[in-house]
Amino acid sequence: MKKYNNGNFNIKNVGEEVELYGWVAKKRNLGGLIFIDLRDRSGIIQLAIRPENNNYALAETLKSEYVIKVNGTIVERESKNLNIPTGEIEVDVTNLEILNTSLDLPFTLTDTTALEDTRLKYRYLDLRRDEIKSKIETRHKITFAIRDFLNKEDFLEIETPILCKSTPEGARDYLVPSRIFNGKFFALPQSPQIFKQLLMVGGMEKYFQIAKCFRDEDLRADRQPEFTQVDMEMSFVDEDDVMNLTERLIAHIFKEVKNIDIKLPLRRMKYDDAISLYGSDKPDLRFDMPICDITEIFKNTEFTIFKDVLSNNGIINALVVKNSADKFSRKDLDHLTDFVKTYKAKGLAYLKFNEEFTGSIVKVVKEEELNALKEKLNITNNDLVLIISDKYSVVKQALGALRLYLGNKLNLISDNYELLWVVDFPSFEYSEEEGRYVACHHPFTAPKDSDIDKLLTDKAHCYSKAYDIVINGYEAGGGSIRIHNQDVQSKMFEALELTEEQIKDKFGFFVEALKYGTPPHGGLALGLDRLVMLLTNTDNIRDVIAFPKTASASDLMSECPNVVDSKQLDELGIKIK
Ligand code: AMO
Repeated sequence: MKKYNNGNFNIKNVGEEVELYGWVAKKRNLGGLIFIDLRDRSGIIQLAIRPENNNYALAETLKSEYVIKVNGTIVERESKNLNIPTGEIEVDVTNLEILNTSLDLPFTLTDTTALEDTRLKYRYLDLRRDEIKSKIETRHKITFAIRDFLNKEDFLEIETPILCKSTPEGARDYLVPSRIFNGKFFALPQSPQIFKQLLMVGGMEKYFQIAKCFRDEDLRADRQPEFTQVDMEMSFVDEDDVMNLTERLIAHIFKEVKNIDIKLPLRRMKYDDAISLYGSDKPDLRFDMPICDITEIFKNTEFTIFKDVLSNNGIINALVVKNSADKFSRKDLDHLTDFVKTYKAKGLAYLKFNEEFTGSIVKVVKEEELNALKEKLNITNNDLVLIISDKYSVVKQALGALRLYLGNKLNLISDNYELLWVVDFPSFEYSEEEGRYVACHHPFTAPKDSDIDKLLTDKAHCYSKAYDIVINGYEAGGGSIRIHNQDVQSKMFEALELTEEQIKDKFGFFVEALKYGTPPHGGLALGLDRLVMLLTNTDNIRDVIAFPKTASASDLMSECPNVVDSKQLDELGIKIK
């Protein structure tokens, strides 16, 4: 068995006889002397083979990525490389054996410009690159720290089924046809939500699982069709208990993996405030620049665009970009206007200040309005003010996106981690597409006690016992206190306009379970992949998953999804349209 980690040797090991294994990362022939960088998971060590060495002829035949075994003595190097841990030493080889050869690689492992598609097709080679390997190592450290922490907190790790029942709400399900019951389907779990609640009914009290989840939804840079949650559920808890446990877990991970101290308790922000100030339920607080409401200043405006918006119950909001007016040309501002239009804003007004205001709306607004603006927004020289007037949701969303865009463009984002809880989510959100209110989280989320009576009559003003943990503008996790009372659960299903039949068909077993002494309970799930992304400083979720899917939800390496033969389809009773 391989005994040593090549990357762990240093000057203190000089004189030791070693047997090393690994891959040929690099071979150089310098004045007759052959140098080889031998790589294993731990790093690289240099091998030196002199012309008089019996192994010289064999060493000459080595190519990149050949797998070799060497015996030799660790010696001090003549020309040292202090940039790597093993840079002061090399191995004087006494025996060399080739264990396997390799074809030329389709991309060079040190080439950072290799196309991602090529890297994904040959993911097993991509994994050999330091950049990906170190992220996979960090992922292991994180899951290890999680298991250690939760075990000490008395949690049980319990697996739940992968072949489940399809339930409405949430994202689209991945379906699995049944051979034994032709025409019937399993669904892959979007999360273990129902099962973890049933574990609480089953008296398990504290559960966790590093759980695979499957969602057939549109993908983004931080989404995969198949991803992993750190899923947790606890009995006899309230919101504070779950948030307290979770933030201690997060702090433990940051300390173990990055040696970073996270100050607890984390700050909390109400959902409504997050939307109002940052235009997002996952505000990135690594930089300032909140959205300012300037509606009041223009309540008697004669500027028709603002006036029309206000008469339709719209609002006027602004972003102040401090000391940056000179950085924005007319063309840049046109570009920003195009940007906000992609968020349904009709336009973007701007003002620059340098002793006085100039800009697109200077001539159409009143002097007193400009003065009021200057005072309210604390405008000083070289500030840029960007204004959108529209209905509430459009203004907030467009300015929230613009804020993030500007934060990146102007390099305003600090290197610190900024964590917070977003709390007091609405129970429902209106879906334009479906023309009805849908659950903001999932249908098992408990409403605030004071809002239970409003579930059927005033959905727009019902708030829930839900919370999300946000790190650097990413939703790193979310959860809630659940409904443990069957009457409230039935009312919630009714509020979501599920028919009696749907409730019985899809959730009947669950509603039934709630009747047998269900304890009050709640929990949360962290997005493990996102957590690893945050702790390894990448914004590409594929970098932190050993075998990820592409942005179009396919696997380039094994080439799936793929067609299956007609015999398989026949057995399943399926005919392709
Ligand atoms: P939710 O749907 O908010 O909650 O998911 C929890 C966390 O999982 C991560 N996540 C994803 N990560 C990668 N790719 C995806 N497609 C993806 N979707 C979600 C996010 C998110 O915060 N059962 C509830 C949890 C609960 O109530 O306890 C749930 O699944 O980081």
